[in-house]
Amino acid sequence: MPFTLTVNGRTSEVDVPADMPLLWVLRDVLELKGTKFGCGIAQCGACTVHIDGQPTRSCITPASTVAGRRITTIEGLSTDGTHPLQRAWLDVDVPQCGYCQAGQIMSAAALLAGTPNPTDADIDRAMAGNICRCGTYLRIRKAIHEAAALASTDAGRPHAVAE
Ligand code: FES
Ligand code: FES
Repeated sequence: MPFTLTVNGRTSEVDVPADMPLLWVLRDVLELKGTKFGCGIAQCGACTVHIDGQPTRSCITPASTVAGRRITTIEGLSTDGTHPLQRAWLDVDVPQCGYCQAGQIMSAAALLAGTPNPTDADIDRAMAGNICRCGTYLRIRKAIHEAAALASTDAGRPHAVAE
């Protein structure tokens, strides 16, 4: 039975098995390849997207269960790549291989949306489920602090800290 997904503000009718993971639908049906497959068992965070603003592992989320909810992927974080996190990530030069980074940024975006000026402990707690086998954790933490500062000077911009 087809159902409707709202991803990055666009509504699409998808005709897939109800238990197909959202990650599969995003990548293989909607052609949004930014969200990555890492472990498939909610252990690495590479597949993190937002569901109604909450960071969610799309690899274990049956697509049909998020019909009608607001789904945001890395492609929807900003329309022009100027979200404070995207700017900070570039400035700090965070990625190494890059594979985990979409998930890292989506978890960081959810953190900043609820905690605009996070401490190191806040960051470590919020990011604990996102694994980086290249070990970019210190640059991630630095970039989140920088993004928080950028967001505070961006006050009023529509994508200041959230999608
Ligand atoms: S691929 Fe979803 S948590 Fe690893
Ligand atoms: S940058 Fe390579 S896994 Fe994180």
